Amino acid sequence: MRCTERAYAKINLTLDVGAKRADGYHEITSVMQRISLWDTVTVERGTGCDSLLCSVPVTEDVNDNLCMKALRVFFAETAMESGGVSITLEKHIPTQAGLGGGSSDAAAVLLALRTLYAPRMTDMRLERLAEKLGSDVPFCVRGGTCLAEGRGELLTDLPPLPDCAIVLCKPDFGLPTPELFARLDGADLGPRPDTAAMAAALARGDLAAAAACLGNVFERVLTEEEGEEIRSIKEALLRHGALGAAMSGSGPTVFGLFDDRQKAVRAKEAL
Ligand code: C5P
Repeated sequence: MRCTERAYAKINLTLDVGAKRADGYHEITSVMQRISLWDTVTVERGTGCDSLLCSVPVTEDVNDNLCMKALRVFFAETAMESGGVSITLEKHIPTQAGLGGGSSDAAAVLLALRTLYAPRMTDMRLERLAEKLGSDVPFCVRGGTCLAEGRGELLTDLPPLPDCAIVLCKPDFGLPTPELFARLDGADLGPRPDTAAMAAALARGDLAAAAACLGNVFERVLTEEEGEEIRSIKEALLRHGALGAAMSGSGPTVFGLFDDRQKAVRAKEAL
């Protein structure tokens, strides 16, 4: 009794952040897009004890890993007996990268557990379980293209980004999400990403227009050194023919959108 799921990465086509709420989270408005880069998550039922085997080192205490938390949340909420669950995780999405890798792995565990233990559970119920694991996890359960609001859990489906090639470049440093959110508090963020223009471009299926209104407020609160690195990657992507480029999530991965696969391959090689 085993189920394998792909845990897809995401990029934020736009990401705007508003006020800090009483619960410590910030209001966000973001257009999120699932992309074709994935980890592979295999969940096996009834193995006697819960375990996690991962292709890269995981958290010091395995129980702190979001996949193990997903397991606990699923069985606590459904009041079912697990009989022991083994999770095997093959990582391809870089961690601490702004690509939602950890969130997506947890979402894949939930999806696999539903298949194995509760096939009649609705998508809505699974998304509400996902919310308990992190702000991006409901989107990772749903996938596709969505407007995400609230702390990220309020999702509205949007038409997908037109088919294109995407180059990702992750600088050698990590940016911890809570610190980046804290940097936004009280900062002068200047003009905000235009979410409405992005939604309109997607509705028209206009890749060039979508690429022209990529935007992420986290790019405005980078240190000089971080900002320099992000700018130079964006410039390189644009020089090689990207229609647009931006940082994803709380960074530091930068993505570029290309309407020509050859140009994308050349950009990748140059980077
Ligand atoms: O929801 P998640 O656990 O992924 O969030 C990690 C941290 O990022 C939170 O503890 C909070 O500091 C910050 N965050 C936020 N506002 C959001 C999402 C995350 O302040 N909408």
